[in-house]
Amino acid sequence: MIGRLNHVAIAVPDLKAASAQYEQILGAKVGAPQDEPDHGVTVVFIELPNTKVELLYPLGEDSPIQGFLDKNPSGGIHHLCFEVEDIHAARDRLTAEGARVLGSGEPKIGAHGKPVLFLHPKDFNGTLIELEQV
Ligand code: CO
Repeated sequence: MIGRLNHVAIAVPDLKAASAQYEQILGAKVGAPQDEPDHGVTVVFIELPNTKVELLYPLGEDSPIQGFLDKNPSGGIHHLCFEVEDIHAARDRLTAEGARVLGSGEPKIGAHGKPVLFLHPKDFNGTLIELEQV
């Protein structure tokens, strides 16, 4: 059911420093910061030949990233995003298997303008999983 790895998201305590590290030390193609007020994050996209890395930094008062950074002050992998062809079919299959979808259970429009859902990390070996319809 899941397809390509769309991105790996990393929460970072210093967006400028992390962007510079990926650009200058790792030699990656790093985009400009984009504010995503609906998701409480500022995102920097890093394009790799086979997938993307997204640097996440808190935006606003109750960003979902802030709690993660409080627990992981030097940052860390926040979630993996897998592509699916039909997000409603994927959701129905997963919930029938007992997996929990975060929030209302209805897809939201994600950072790439496509419908996304998040699956409870406790159901997937401690890893927050995002599904994105492509
Ligand atoms: Co994501």
